Amino acid sequence: MKYNFDEIILRRNTNCIKWDRGAEDVLPMWVADMDFKTAQPIIDALKGKLDSGVFGYTLHPDVYYDAIIGWWERRHNFTLKKDWLVFCPGVVPALSYIIRANTCQGDKVLLQSPVYYPFYRVITNNGCQVVDNPLKLVHESYEIDFEDLENKASDPKVKLMLLCSPHNPVGRVWTREELIRIGEICEKHKVLVIADEIHCDLIYKGYKHIPFASINEGFLMNSITCTAPSKTFNLAGLQVSNLIVPNKELRTKLKQILVVNEIGEPNVFSVNALIAAYNYGEEWLTQLMEYLEGNLKYLIDFVGSNMPALKVIKTEGTYLIWVDCRALGKSSKELNTLLIKNAKVWFNDGSTFGLNGEGFVRINIACPRELLVEGLNRIKGVITENNSEN
Ligand SMILES: Cc1ncc(COP(=O)(O)O)c(C=O)c1O
Repeated sequence: MKYNFDEIILRRNTNCIKWDRGAEDVLPMWVADMDFKTAQPIIDALKGKLDSGVFGYTLHPDVYYDAIIGWWERRHNFTLKKDWLVFCPGVVPALSYIIRANTCQGDKVLLQSPVYYPFYRVITNNGCQVVDNPLKLVHESYEIDFEDLENKASDPKVKLMLLCSPHNPVGRVWTREELIRIGEICEKHKVLVIADEIHCDLIYKGYKHIPFASINEGFLMNSITCTAPSKTFNLAGLQVSNLIVPNKELRTKLKQILVVNEIGEPNVFSVNALIAAYNYGEEWLTQLMEYLEGNLKYLIDFVGSNMPALKVIKTEGTYLIWVDCRALGKSSKELNTLLIKNAKVWFNDGSTFGLNGEGFVRINIACPRELLVEGLNRIKGVITENNSEN
């Protein structure tokens, strides 16, 4: 089936966080949610459930686990066992429970800024301290400072590392070599790796996602991987994620916390949606990635021709594009206010991802091309005007 990603879907007044939080005349290009309909097999599966008219307490049947296992085998060359899989309604709640299960008050948790902003709050809300291993910007792409990582990981108070792979917002798809270096440092210093791989299916041509835990037995046992069909298939509202926890001791600890917090049963629709997505969603995903590739190219060309003061950071995965606006001489807060007030476009303010996000914005390009063109045209005048004032 040929999908039409150009279709404009009216999302205002649908209880949609992306479209209904801001003013009516502001074009939202912020939160990580796509303005596309999901794959037809998922819609059909949901319709089937809806038509039954019965929405009672629900369990995870074997076909649910088979669908997850099949997906990871086919797409990521990683063979999972059913026992390893632990359900949670979302990756962010999962991160919070994982931290609670594996730290004591005052422990430290590593992250790599600029990074997805809930990483900070899941650490501090659980009584731990953030330890930052800032990423280094080298020729419009980000690299890991391994010396700094080793230094920080060697602090005995550091118990966990939140690894964002692929990385939101800098768009890196970490290479096998990089992941091996991270894994070896963490193993050496007894730091447990929490690999948030929610963006693992959104990879551009020429790159490949390597599941951290798939690299070797040591990494498999020293990691918890967070996965979900939500970014891949635009299902965030269904609240379903699955954690890969091969280490029995870690799994028992995590399950205890989930039981204590009464996290167990899934949303009735999420089960059917996940099964359809992972079993029949590949055709849609292939077409989605082609469309996103086109949007990314359009953005890069447009910025290069019309707003050369801005630098689009090299994107290897995700539909979230990190743009360096520091040449405009404005803080990201000032810039975002200007963009919302004058250009009527809402991007994510780079400073919320960490101090080194100051002067950057994050642009969500998962929308019909017409909206992307509209958004870029709206900001063009404001950026050009501002740049000539500097
Ligand atoms: C890295 C990362 N982790 C987790 C999430 C959200 O996960 P969930 O909606 O399952 O809590 C996002 C959403 O943008 C994300 O970018």
